[in-house]
Order: sequence, then C-alpha cells, then structure tokens
Amino acid sequence: MNTLSPTPSMPAAGLCSIQRMVGRCLDLYCCEGGAGMGYALAGWKVTGVDIKPQPRYPQTFVLGDALEYLEAHGSEYDLIHASPPCQGYSHLTPGSHRDKHARMIPAVRALLQRIGKPYVIENVAGARHELRNPVMLCGSMFGLRTRRHRYFETNFQVTAPRPCDHSTLPLLVTTASKSSREKRYALGMKPKTVKNAPLAYGIGWMSCDGLKEAIPPAYTQYIGTCAACTHASMAQVVETVPTCIIRTPGGPPAKGVRESLKGHGFHWNPDDMRGDRNYPVNAWLLHRVPAPELPTYQKFATDLKMEFDYFPR
Ligand SMILES: C[S@@+](CC[C@H](N)C(=O)[O-])C[C@H]1O[C@@H](n2cnc3c(N)ncnc32)[C@H](O)[C@@H]1O
Ligand SMILES: [Zn+2]
Repeated sequence: MNTLSPTPSMPAAGLCSIQRMVGRCLDLYCCEGGAGMGYALAGWKVTGVDIKPQPRYPQTFVLGDALEYLEAHGSEYDLIHASPPCQGYSHLTPGSHRDKHARMIPAVRALLQRIGKPYVIENVAGARHELRNPVMLCGSMFGLRTRRHRYFETNFQVTAPRPCDHSTLPLLVTTASKSSREKRYALGMKPKTVKNAPLAYGIGWMSCDGLKEAIPPAYTQYIGTCAACTHASMAQVVETVPTCIIRTPGGPPAKGVRESLKGHGFHWNPDDMRGDRNYPVNAWLLHRVPAPELPTYQKFATDLKMEFDYFPR
C-alpha cells in the first residue's frame, strides 16, 4: 500500500462545501479533523496526515507518518499546521507515564523552519514551555460553550481576538469516569455527553475518541484567516512581476496571433516606452503578472515561435 498518496475521504454530513480557495494547507497529526475543518472554513484546501486511518476526516486524507510526509511534500503547501500528540506534555497524563510518550514539538519545528512556509504548532497548556511565544485561544473568545484552552506557536502575526469570558459554565462533552461525573454533579454541572459537541465545540461529525483530541474549528478558522491575509499580501507584493514581454522576431505577427495575444491580455503599441531601455519597442506587454503564471506565458510564446522575456529580470 502506498501510504503517502492522498485519497479523498468521506465528506462530513451537513457541512457546507468550500466556496473559495485561499491556498493549500497541510494538517499534520490531523485525527478526525477539528483543526482541518477550521482551515477549510477559512477557505484553505486542506490535506490531513495521520498515522492511523481516519475515515471521519472531512477533507483529503493521507495515511502516514507526519514528519516523513512533511519532509517529502511540505514545500508543496502554503500553510502547515501541526498538532503533535499531547500525552507527553498533558497534565492529564500521570507524571510517571509522561516520559513514555514522544515529545515531538522540537523535531516538527526544526523541519518546519527548514521548509520556510507559514506554520502553526498547536498544543495543550502543559506544552507551553516548549512553544515559542504562543497565543492562547479559548472557546469563550468565539461564543462557544467550552473553554478548552489551546496554545498556538506561529511564524506570522496572530493575536487573540478578545480576552476569555468565563462567566458562563461550559457544556461538557464525552463520557467521564464515575468519580469525575460525581465531582461535576457536586459542582452543579450537567453530565458530559457527545450531544453537547456541536454547541460546545462546533463539531458534529466526530467519534468520542476524536472529540477528546479535537480543537474547536473556530480556533483554526481564526488562525487560517490571519494566515490568509499574510498569504494574500505576500502573493501581491513578492510574487508579481511588473511586465511580461513578447516579441515577434520576424516583424508584426499575423492577425490570428495578434488576436491570441490580445486574448491573453497583452497589448501592442509600446510607443510610450520608446527610449526606455528596459522595454523593447514593437513588443507586446502584459503588466502585473503573478510569478507562478510566468511559465504558462513562456510556453504560450514558445508555441507561437516568439521571444519571451519579463521585466525586471
Ligand atoms: C492531538 S491529536 C490531533 C487532533 C486534531 N488536531 C484535531 O483538532 O482534531 C494527535 C493525532 O496525532 C496522530 N499521530 C501520532 N503520531 C503520529 C505520527 N508519527 N504521524 C502522524 N500522526 C500521528 C494520532 O493518531 C492523533 O490522531
Ligand atoms: Zn478561557
């Protein structure tokens, strides 16, 4: 089995399809997709990777090791999220057992920094010391009936949308042990049940196990929107070349070729550029071209046996 090839997985019932696409987002250690769903809602095209099969994952899913996949394919993505397992850091794991669990944050960060894309590393409060300048998000910041504080290290600007508001009791999700149920009853809290998941977390497609691991999608919808702004401004500022230039070496092009050039948005008559050594006269120009589209225009020119250049080189 090729464990690293993407396969589309089951769409989550009742969830709307994605209307616009900001860029490609990699969701490492994806589980059943709490984080992934948030990025999808922010407009990202999401691919999740997990070491275990995740038939409930609502976006494209890849079965495999997160670091192996990141090493091989990380550079193909515009945003990379990682939620390494928290058992090695969590206060809920008994101290004697914590050392048995791998603490993956340093290895993930080292590889993410080498790849150099916008990244997010998420974890629980116990991992705060491992994360660099993390921002804390809480369900109350998003009108959710949960607190579920989670910490996010990012290499782009994210600040919490507002302070926590713990004035209402959270709704509890999933089943608990008898003793913890009794403690909750004593505090006047309602029993835990997966039925609370939509109101508490904004999640309606997960199993009990998935819910235990998940972060509410609202958190990553918020972070994904911050990343989308960074991504969009980078795309405009860094990745646009001022002018594409096409020249016909044997004189003016035939009518059909002229129409084709115009159809691609090029314009003739660069008389206003005469005397500017950067723009050859008698050329066809197209301004403000996104850099990733340059190869397409180059092929277009080559197919028509024309010279291709762009300014500035
Ligand atoms: C804390 S959960 C992630 C929760 C998820 N972000 C969400 O919001 O629903 C961690 C996941 O990491 C997966 N995992 C553990 N080791 C892994 C590895 N080496 N490669 C990929 N996934 C791994 C586990 O199977 C588990 O599903
Ligand atoms: Zn809070």
